[in-house]
Amino acid sequence: MAGCRVRFEPYGIEVTVSPGTTVLEAARKAGIAIAAQCGARGTCGQCAVRILEGQPAAIRQALGRAAALPKGMALACLAEVADGLAVRPVNAVRVG
Ligand code: FES
Repeated sequence: MAGCRVRFEPYGIEVTVSPGTTVLEAARKAGIAIAAQCGARGTCGQCAVRILEGQPAAIRQALGRAAALPKGMALACLAEVADGLAVRPVNAVRVG
């Protein structure tokens, strides 16, 4: 299956990952550390990203009460990548 290209702003870093990968996993591959206090359970809201282009292919079920988000945002730990997706993490640092 073809890979999905995902871009992280404001870093301008693009990575290609397999379908079904979460945005959080893709960010790690891109060398971007997104805060993920709840351990990717979908409950802390720390991993929020603003969707700049495209839409996640799917949103996984949170393992608990899902963190609420404003429109145009997604939880990186629950959002699965789609080809052409571009996001801007709220709480992140570039490490690589
Ligand atoms: S890591 Fe906590 S909501 Fe995603």
